[in-house]
Amino acid sequence: MAGSDAALAKLLELDGEVLASYFSELTGRLAALADPSPARILDLGSGPGTGTLALARRFPAAHVTAVDISAQMLHRLSEQALAHGVADRITTVEANIDESWAEFSRGGPYDLIWAAAFMHHVADPARTFARAFERLNPGGRIAVTEMDFFPLYLPEDTGVGRPGLEARLHAATNTRPPHEWTDHLRDAGFTLRERRPFDIRLDATQAGPSLNTYAQGSLAKLRSHATEVLAEDDLAALDVLLDEEQPHSVARRDDLTVRTTRTTWIARRP
Ligand SMILES: C[S@@+](CC[C@H](N)C(=O)[O-])C[C@H]1O[C@@H](n2cnc3c(N)ncnc32)[C@H](O)[C@@H]1O
Repeated sequence: MAGSDAALAKLLELDGEVLASYFSELTGRLAALADPSPARILDLGSGPGTGTLALARRFPAAHVTAVDISAQMLHRLSEQALAHGVADRITTVEANIDESWAEFSRGGPYDLIWAAAFMHHVADPARTFARAFERLNPGGRIAVTEMDFFPLYLPEDTGVGRPGLEARLHAATNTRPPHEWTDHLRDAGFTLRERRPFDIRLDATQAGPSLNTYAQGSLAKLRSHATEVLAEDDLAALDVLLDEEQPHSVARRDDLTVRTTRTTWIARRP
């Protein structure tokens, strides 16, 4: 697997593991809204399959078509599908969603389309929402989620450098406005059922044993964007926290938490 895809796949899998309660709540919400239960599901920009597997688990009679541009992500997804005993209900399609949809349209029409942390990648969101609308059965739903910002993990005072480091890191690296898809959904013909920020607050016990690895990977990714924008002393403190040999390191701490929000839109094709 190419280095950057491998690192991203790992981080996305850890995200799925640590935030399992969020995925479960969201797919539960979709199940409560769907009548009958969806039989055909399309996962756009599936990555290594966090959402694909959560959907396959939630809807045990459904077939899920997972589309991604990265063969490596899909390979990982297939391995996970086998390990979880759902490989017979998952089809992977390697395709660029900005180009032809012919190959993965064959698995439709769909009852549910899922796009997690993906819509902001497409070249033309209006066209992508319109194509999704066309591939859904009447009454079918689309669920779009976005990570509003990378989670926060650290206490105010980490014991290294000045207090408030993580807030400054976020302020310096997270400068884009949040993604907003409400108008796109309406313009494509969807009826918006709900737009909801999921407020996620997990302590170490709720987050589970992968929390340290997840926080380490996530903060290392932010660190790679921070070189030009964070003060020298904060960069030095962050490097100490990311050094697994150090006593205060993120990898060893027992005072990490997860604080973030994910905005989700659920809409229906009339
Ligand atoms: C941030 S990841 C999200 C993955 C997954 N949905 C999740 O929530 O874990 C975005 C994914 O979109 C894929 N991607 C980006 N642009 C794409 C495109 N034009 N066509 C298909 N997949 C694309 C990437 O390869 C990556 O796996």
